[in-house]
Amino acid sequence: MSKKVAFWIFLVGTVSSAILFLGLTWDTHRQIEALSHVDKLSNNVVEGKRTFEKYNCNDCHTILGFGAYYAPDLTKVVQRIGADGIRFRIKDPEKALASSWRKMPNLKVSDAETDNLIAFFTWVGNIENGDWPPQDSKKRLSRSEERMVAGVGVSPGAAVFQSRGCMNCHALHGTGGTFGPALDAIGRKLSLEQIEHYIKNPKAVNPKAMMPPQTALSEKEIEEVAGFLANLK
Ligand code: HEC
Ligand code: HEC
Repeated sequence: MSKKVAFWIFLVGTVSSAILFLGLTWDTHRQIEALSHVDKLSNNVVEGKRTFEKYNCNDCHTILGFGAYYAPDLTKVVQRIGADGIRFRIKDPEKALASSWRKMPNLKVSDAETDNLIAFFTWVGNIENGDWPPQDSKKRLSRSEERMVAGVGVSPGAAVFQSRGCMNCHALHGTGGTFGPALDAIGRKLSLEQIEHYIKNPKAVNPKAMMPPQTALSEKEIEEVAGFLANLK
């Protein structure tokens, strides 16, 4: 190759990559307001971001892929465990995350700060970021979903169990919380009616119950999740 050819390859390569790079940057800026739903940036969201910085959550967690890799990415945490799940873990991580070898300290975050953090996570979770970060891609099953699929098959009741906070306190196939008992064989102990009853009002069955009544669930969801659990024998 002559010097002249090398020069032209260098020039054309550099100029075309620069044009491509600038074009894509311009295109991103053109769409950024719509993709990130800037209109939903409320004061609570902004305060939540400040709280996230105040407690250095980024020292252990990533968000949108940025941060430290010790703890799970929090971009889609609202979709993954719901607002109640987040509240429970931040308030008492020693108990809520007791089953894990990784530890999160109790940072004594106030209730108001937690609400702002949830607003911040909700906003971040709805940014249209092309399935980033990939561990939360809808195309990929989560670890507990994989186990559920392998273990019991997907049913509406299994979906309720997973998405409506039961797993904050209960485990199935070794995945989930440890505040309440594992429910792998609950169908041997309780009937469908007894399970429904327990979900609606634990204290009526067991005056010392620590499980809160699951008032956020509809009748149909209670029926589905109770049906699913009654079959675990
Ligand atoms: C010293 C490290 C550390 C700091 C600081 C920290 N966390 Fe965590 N956090 C963890 C670890 C470790 C886990 C996961 C434990 C497990 O399940 O393996 C976790 C889990 C969580 C979860 C549950 C995630 C999920 O998908 O189940 C949430 C929500 C969370 N942290 C929020 C926060 C917030 C908000 C802050 C800042 C106020 C924070 N964390 C600060 C280490 C930390
Ligand atoms: C905040 C934690 C928490 C949440 C959330 C929770 N539970 Fe519980 N659950 C418990 C605890 C603790 C117990 C053990 C008995 C008690 O103290 O109430 C229990 C007991 C049970 C029992 C009876 C188990 C037995 O061996 O008698 C069933 C059934 C049950 N839970 C189902 C559910 C379902 C279904 C959901 C979700 C809709 C759910 N729980 C959500 C904490 C929780």
